Order: sequence, then C-alpha cells, then structure tokens
Amino acid sequence: MAYPQLQPVDRDPEACRRLLQRVVTNRLANYGVPESRRALLQEQLGSTNRPMRLYFAEGRPVGLVGWSSGNPLGPTVDLLVLEPPHASVAGYGELLDRAEREIGPALFLYGPVPGLSLGEERQLLEARGFRPFARSEMTLDPSAKLGRRPAPPGVETRPVRPEDRAELGALHHRTYRDHFDGYLFLEQEDRVEDSRREVRQILEGRWGAFVADGSRVALPDGRLGGAVLTVRGAEGVLIAQVMVDPEAQGRGIGARLLTESIEGLRAHGDGPIYLNVTEGNRRAVRLYERLGFVRTLGPSQDWYRAERIPVSPTADAAPGAGSARRPPAPGAPPARSPAP
Ligand SMILES: CC(C)(COP(=O)(O)OP(=O)(O)OC[C@H]1O[C@@H](n2cnc3c(N)ncnc32)[C@H](O)[C@@H]1OP(=O)(O)O)[C@@H](O)C(=O)NCCC(=O)NCCS
Repeated sequence: MAYPQLQPVDRDPEACRRLLQRVVTNRLANYGVPESRRALLQEQLGSTNRPMRLYFAEGRPVGLVGWSSGNPLGPTVDLLVLEPPHASVAGYGELLDRAEREIGPALFLYGPVPGLSLGEERQLLEARGFRPFARSEMTLDPSAKLGRRPAPPGVETRPVRPEDRAELGALHHRTYRDHFDGYLFLEQEDRVEDSRREVRQILEGRWGAFVADGSRVALPDGRLGGAVLTVRGAEGVLIAQVMVDPEAQGRGIGARLLTESIEGLRAHGDGPIYLNVTEGNRRAVRLYERLGFVRTLGPSQDWYRAERIPVSPTADAAPGAGSARRPPAPGAPPARSPAP
C-alpha cells in the first residue's frame, strides 16, 4: 500500500513548528515586517485552528500545506513549504497537486514560496493557471500635511448613521460587484448578502471597534453613494473600507470623504492611520499617495486563479469596474482586512 503523503500535523508537531518557522522567516525577509510586528505574524501563521497537513517523503515530514476555506469560490492556500532538497519546482508541483486533490482547486495562494526564486515560483504557478497580484499596507503619519482640494460641487457629506446600514450594504455591492477585491474578500455565495455581511462586520467590530469620528458618507445625486468606514484595531486606526458608487467615481468624492475622516480622527489626536490596498488598484493607490499615505508593509507576492475570477486585480483595466483593498492574511502584509 502506498504511504499516504499528506498527514495530520499531530503526526509530528515538531516538524510542523520547524516548517512554519521557515514560512515566517521567508515572509519577514520578503515584506520587511518590523520587529515590533513579528510576534503577530508568528501567532497568525502558527495558529493550529486552521487546516494544515504535513507532507511526507520517504517516510519523513519534509513539507507543510495550510489553507483557509472561507471563500465559497475555492480555498486559499496560505502556507506552502518544502525543505531542501525537495524545494524545487517539481517538488512543489507534486505537493500542490496532491493538496488540491484533497481540498479542490485553490482560488488564491500566498507567496513567496520558500526556496524558489521568483522565476521558479512563476513557472510553478503560471503553469497551473495562477496569475500574480500584490497587496500593501499603507500608513498616514500623524504629521503628514493633508493636501486640500476643492470640494466636489453638489455633494453632501455627513457622519454615518445606524440607519445607513442597508444602504451601505447595497453601495458595497454596487462598488465591488465587478472588482477584484470583491472576490478576494468573498465569504458567501450570494454576493448581495455577502456585501451586507461585510458592512455589518465592520460596524459590529470584527476588525476592531467602529470609529464614528473617522467614518463619513457622501450623498451625490441624493442617494448614499460613497463611504469611508474606520475601526480601531489592535495595531491602531484602520480605514477598513473606502467605496464610491461606480457611477459617481472620479468626481473627488473619495478624496473628500477620506480627508474629512482623517480630519475627524486627528481632532481626537489619533496616531498613524493604516489601510490595505491591492497594488493593481491604481486609482486607489494614487489617491492614498496623494493624501500622504506611504507603503509600510509589502507589496506581498500573491497569486489568484485567473479562470475562476472574471476581473483583473488591475482594476482600472477591468471591464465594468468603473474606475478603478482585513487585518492581513496569515502572512504579511498583515491584514487581509476588508478592503482597503
Ligand atoms: C478608489 C475610490 C474609492 C476613489 O474614489 P473616487 O471618488 O473615484 O476618487 P476621486 O474622484 O476623489 O479621485 C479619483 C480621481 O478623480 C480626480 N478628481 C478629484 N477631485 C476631482 C474633482 N473635484 N473633479 C473631478 N475630478 C476630480 C482625481 O484627480 C483622481 O484622478 P486620478 O486618479 O487620475 O489622480 C473609488 O474609485 C472606488 O470606490 N473604487 C472601487 C472600490 C475601491 O477600490 N476602494 C478602495 C479599496 S482600497
């Protein structure tokens, strides 16, 4: 009888720890994670309440694969590591194919793959239908001067009210229906329902306590058409969501809402403000850079299965995407928090 290669991690917890350590070291080196945040990454990656398997070759544990299965479109492989000399394109190919026979085709895979060059990683993954994407954490220093722009004419803005919840869910759906981030953070098959969930979880504290002073909505053309939602998480203030109705984008609403939210936060002496963004989302990145945000983690080296996601991460180029990002996934950059 063939020796089963994928085994529960309790077959050899020590080997599991060693392999996890290798992933952590690899990601730290790649993403420039500062000392102060290493413990968090260690904890996220080392958590045993996620599915993981040890990979055995010749009766010895030489690799580890871990995944999360929250996305209805397919699992996310967030841990993939082989020890030398098994860490080759062919070795990883076998491990990945083996894992996918058990868990189904992966939708996302977080790199970098330990022991492979970027060229080898591309060879391994592009041959299996993956394409690259990247995410970064950006931070606005409290001393950064906010450039002021003229407010867009005829657009009322105001704080978020509890009764906005349903409209915020509908706005989220319109904004992310044809957007890469809409697939990246999906947790429910029904996209309308998933948008409601996303908004509800931000307002109810999944990523940290909701911060009313740093959250605003805009009402272009009379209906709720833009919003910035902010939370106070473990590491500080996180802008958890920035969204403008595709029909109202490019009119300065995003810039205005962000400026007002940041001013609201600063009035209360808040420190650095974080957000996470998909690098291909050029309009969002440009907007954040113009406001003074700088990259503090990443860009990450991640992969998605192109045939399963009908929009490109380069949002500006995606048909129907209008113009154009949770606390990080296990593995930096931290927080696959809700877009951004
Ligand atoms: C990213 C996003 C929030 C930006 O909001 P927006 O309202 O479209 O952004 P703005 O209009 O303020 O700025 C975008 C452009 O409009 C221009 N603009 C700003 N003020 C303007 C004004 N008063 N009149 C005309 N144009 C203006 C800006 O110069 C900018 O152009 P540029 O990108 O070429 O530099 C919005 O496009 C969106 O919701 N995208 C989908 C969801 C998303 O990606 N969210 C962010 C995830 S991290």
